[in-house]
Amino acid sequence: MTDSSLPAPASGTVLSGMRPTGQLHLGNYHGALKNWVALQERYECYFFVADWHALTTGYEDTSQLQAHLAAMVIDWLAAGLDPARAAIFVQSQVPEHAELHLLLSMITPLPWLERVPTYKDQQAQLKDRDLATYGFLGYPLLQSADILIYRPAYVPVGEDQVAHVEITREVARRFNHLFGGDPQFAAKAKQALRRFDAAGRERLQALRRGFMEAGDHAGLDEARAMIAGNHRLEQAERALLRDWLHGDHHQLLPEPQVLLTPTPKVPGLDGRKMSKSYGNVIGLTEDPESIARKIKGMQTDPARVRRTDPGDPEKCPVWDLHKLYSTPQTREWVQAGCRSAGIGCLECKKPVIDAISAEATLMRERAAPYIANPRRVREILDAGAVKARQAAQATMEVVRGAMHLLPERPAS
Ligand code: TRP
Ligand code: SF4
Repeated sequence: MTDSSLPAPASGTVLSGMRPTGQLHLGNYHGALKNWVALQERYECYFFVADWHALTTGYEDTSQLQAHLAAMVIDWLAAGLDPARAAIFVQSQVPEHAELHLLLSMITPLPWLERVPTYKDQQAQLKDRDLATYGFLGYPLLQSADILIYRPAYVPVGEDQVAHVEITREVARRFNHLFGGDPQFAAKAKQALRRFDAAGRERLQALRRGFMEAGDHAGLDEARAMIAGNHRLEQAERALLRDWLHGDHHQLLPEPQVLLTPTPKVPGLDGRKMSKSYGNVIGLTEDPESIARKIKGMQTDPARVRRTDPGDPEKCPVWDLHKLYSTPQTREWVQAGCRSAGIGCLECKKPVIDAISAEATLMRERAAPYIANPRRVREILDAGAVKARQAAQATMEVVRGAMHLLPERPAS
């Protein structure tokens, strides 16, 4: 994904999650991870391992959960996710997700969940498992809690997850309708602004006007930085002022927008979509010999039985890899050479093997220190959870208040 296809506002919060499936493959990379790496440059990002989600379908055998989780996070880091930019964490280490899920479950009509397309589809597909469980029905709502608790502007997902963001928006709307905006919002904002000196307050007001009236995003960034940098603000005040920058009307749980990830076709070795369950994958950090061996054996246009038979790249999965990995010149060479039988398939595969190997080698280098020292991964996840919890707790404070629940018991 190129930078220019990202939406214009260069600020705001982005959140996404992935189930812990173990080592990732090129399909995961081009379909999601690469996009996350690009997003962390421009947004405040939260990326998490959806380990509770894995339990919704895989509750019978959890023995591989930790191994899969660690392997996936190492691949995230190998691909360039940067813990200094994005909060990288594990869902179950931020129990506020469960708390919000519980509260949202009180207001969510059952038919909303029953109608989510993946509910019946997955039950039909995973016939070997008993998915007539409470957790499985509720998992889109758990996803809603995952999202709403960070009050993100955008949720980058693929086509298959759009329905889940849609129900998230409906749940947010219902919650906001029931528990309202905060009538004290303007007064609280004014109170929080007292933590700045007069010049700071004036500057913030001006930047806010600039953004609201003229869409001045640089100003918005400056204002956010001022808020982030003022250590006299409490966490909840900071969250409140960030909302205040966008207007007076306070939505308790703002409706997030889908950021649809462009998903190029990533063919597996057999020409079907690359997928772990088909056993046709190339790993993100696979070694060059194995990459070469796999691609050499990869399906090509069936019309090219002999070297002298011309072919059609459009009918060949190797061409889809060229589209992802080759320069325009190489692609022209493939088009001409394939159609005229001027090149052989092995020759044609060579640049793809080289490009994928080079990419994988880079990623293996980045993964190596974490494989050698798994404690480092745990430290990153722990730090990510601390950061995520701060944001999640600030939301829960407001949610509890709006629902007339007591605040969380202070740690003793
Ligand atoms: N359900 C998503 C999947 O299976 C993972 C996920 C869980 C998620 N919570 C999320 C994605 C919140 C985006 C936002 O791929
Ligand atoms: Fe596929 Fe390349 Fe062989 Fe054509 S020459 S069939 S594009 S591998």
